[in-house]
Amino acid sequence: MRVMMLSMQSLSAQTVLVTGGAKRIGRAIALRLAREGARVAIHYNESEAEARRTAEECGGAPVFRANLESVDEIRNLFTDIGTRLGRLDGLVNNAARFTLVDPLEATEKDWDFIHSVNLKAVFFCCQQAAILMRRTGGGRIVNISSLGGIRPWAHHAHYCASKAGVIMLTRALAKSFAPDITVNSVAPGVIPFGADDDERVERLVAATPAGRAGTGDEIADAVAYFLGATNFVTGQLIAVDGGLSQR
Ligand SMILES: NC(=O)c1ccc[n+]([C@@H]2O[C@H](COP(=O)([O-])OP(=O)(O)OC[C@H]3O[C@@H](n4cnc5c(N)ncnc54)[C@H](OP(=O)(O)O)[C@@H]3O)[C@@H](O)[C@H]2O)c1
Repeated sequence: MRVMMLSMQSLSAQTVLVTGGAKRIGRAIALRLAREGARVAIHYNESEAEARRTAEECGGAPVFRANLESVDEIRNLFTDIGTRLGRLDGLVNNAARFTLVDPLEATEKDWDFIHSVNLKAVFFCCQQAAILMRRTGGGRIVNISSLGGIRPWAHHAHYCASKAGVIMLTRALAKSFAPDITVNSVAPGVIPFGADDDERVERLVAATPAGRAGTGDEIADAVAYFLGATNFVTGQLIAVDGGLSQR
């Protein structure tokens, strides 16, 4: 077995793609990994200006556009990464959607809107990344799930199901891709960015044992841990939620 599989992975030796890396949590992850010396690639769909700004702050990172609803676009994204970057050592599946729908009124479109990006795209990004990673000896995948994949939220049943799916996908793929590729998940709790602060967010923060909301940097800490860990850490979930999932 190669030594690389067993030792801690230096982030400075890694080429890492962050999906939805233009803004908010994805941006915090990208900046953190770049600070640690990783060669970061920023994926975006609609936020081109923000993606270019984040890429600039990451020291001139390459940017890649793809609508992750489309499996063809996902395949093209990873082909492009192989061609332009020559390798892929890490993937952070961060891109996702979030909507509020009463389950009694949800339509097929509402369901597909969430699941196409939150679950189907995560599966195909893992698949395409693993194919690319295997060309250069393996890698590390981190799927961003959610507190909503652990605890039920009445008006987000479709979202909760997609994120619970991400957690089980992580565990199953950890077995499928072992021993050279690890697959782990980080489940954020409440990580507000000002614009989406509402009464619901305030209620969740009030119920959080840590007594406050979390930050993108705290999610990035957990992602960096998994990207740097040995291949003995796989199929695992870290909830970065101030203890809210324990209530
Ligand atoms: N913020 C929280 O409180 C919280 C709590 C629990 C879990 N999470 C999870 O943490 C991750 C990041 O959260 P966030 O709040 O920072 O996310 P966000 O801003 O809602 O979304 C992140 C990015 O996903 C990308 N995206 C959405 N649909 C896409 C599509 N069809 N194709 C390609 N990209 C698409 C968007 O990229 P473009 O803007 O470029 O289109 C967007 O910037 C998500 O997985 C989320 O579910 C967040």
